[in-house]
Amino acid sequence: MLCNRSRKSLLPISGSRASLPLLRTPGNSLLRYSSVRHQSNRAVIYTENGDPTQVLRTLTYNPLPPPQSGTVNIKYLLAPINPADINVIQGVYPAKPTLTSLVEGQPNVFVGGNEGLGQITHVGPDVSGMSVGDWVVMTKPQAGTWSSARNVGAGDVLKLPRVDGLEEVHAATMTVNPPTAYNMLNDYVALQNGDWVVQNGANSAVGQAVIQIAASRGLKTLNLVRKRPDIGVLTEKLKALGATEVLSYDDLADRSLTQKIMKEWTAGKGFKLGLNCVSGPDTTAMARLLGQDAYLVSYGAMSKQPLSLPTSLFIFKNLTSAGFWQSRWYKMHPREDKESLMKTLVDLVAQRKLQAPEHEIVTIAAGDSDEVAGQKVRDIFGKISQGQYDKKVLLKFETTQ
Ligand SMILES: NC(=O)c1ccc[n+]([C@@H]2O[C@H](COP(=O)([O-])OP(=O)(O)OC[C@H]3O[C@@H](n4cnc5c(N)ncnc54)[C@H](OP(=O)(O)O)[C@@H]3O)[C@@H](O)[C@H]2O)c1
Repeated sequence: MLCNRSRKSLLPISGSRASLPLLRTPGNSLLRYSSVRHQSNRAVIYTENGDPTQVLRTLTYNPLPPPQSGTVNIKYLLAPINPADINVIQGVYPAKPTLTSLVEGQPNVFVGGNEGLGQITHVGPDVSGMSVGDWVVMTKPQAGTWSSARNVGAGDVLKLPRVDGLEEVHAATMTVNPPTAYNMLNDYVALQNGDWVVQNGANSAVGQAVIQIAASRGLKTLNLVRKRPDIGVLTEKLKALGATEVLSYDDLADRSLTQKIMKEWTAGKGFKLGLNCVSGPDTTAMARLLGQDAYLVSYGAMSKQPLSLPTSLFIFKNLTSAGFWQSRWYKMHPREDKESLMKTLVDLVAQRKLQAPEHEIVTIAAGDSDEVAGQKVRDIFGKISQGQYDKKVLLKFETTQ
């Protein structure tokens, strides 16, 4: 199919190169950005770690050559911006992207984005079970999903079953948050129908997946969120997803309420599983609701504060405090487990038990120059850092292909 493209689109972007703007990389090389409007591919890139509103650029690159053995070419349909992506760009996250060559003869760059939905456009030799048009998700971390098209190893992607109800947004957000929720509910405590789970950050994308997956298993959830003027609206929204109860962190200061929760809701047993998205003092208060032999599983630290737990919970209640990282799960599990997990989650979508997160799609227009597109991307990160989005933002690249 590559050879069907116009010859013009296969030419390097060299027409007006001498006049294109330059960016100095850490190695002091010069990276030249394209202002041309008839680009074929584009990626959100950076060459040094830092504040995303400062270091992110977009870079135009040529159509991909035909895939080599064992690889496929994909176009990304949608890719979310997750909180950890920001930490990766800042250079404070344990998983690092690798430097990538996008434009021949120019310095290598980091391409942003860990999660996303790809569609196969070309299948290389020695690849079985994958066809043009298939939807795939990444199993290799930091795949550089904020791009319009990439060549990837067939072993680094999983084909998603296409089922009724599975939309692009579901698929593009399928590999990080829903599996985190699913695994935390599965891997620590043997929960039975009617058991209670407590979680904080309950309105996060992970928290919403926890609510829905727990409800699908007949589990009850106490969902803790930050106090806000419209907490009634949020409560209704989370209850519509399947939340049993929703309270604010501040509510836990009311001793009569916490006693009622322990006595009446959990029949004096306390919660068997607590899921921690935020850490800080609010999590200490949540941990006091846990019962005998319970698990507190931490997966995020949105408050940026440390987690402090009373020693008595360990001595007298035999509390176990553990950490979960979905990236570690992917590393430790064979491909069959990953396929099985994706199938389980896709089945939940098909059964209308797992909704896509609330979202906003930001399109990077094909007609924008790299300068304009880069500014648009930096502005998105500025709004995210100021908390101006209360929904998941996904990037979509328009291309001229
Ligand atoms: N360990 C893993 O494998 C794994 C996997 C997926 C995600 N995560 C982590 O889980 C967290 C949530 O991810 P997500 O994609 O679900 O995020 P998200 O949808 O963007 O939601 C962010 C959540 O953090 C809360 N929050 C933000 N700042 C806060 C603060 N200062 N104090 C308390 N709460 C605050 C927000 O509450 P408000 O509405 O009140 O602002 C919201 O509930 C992130 O830390 C992410 O890195 C970890």
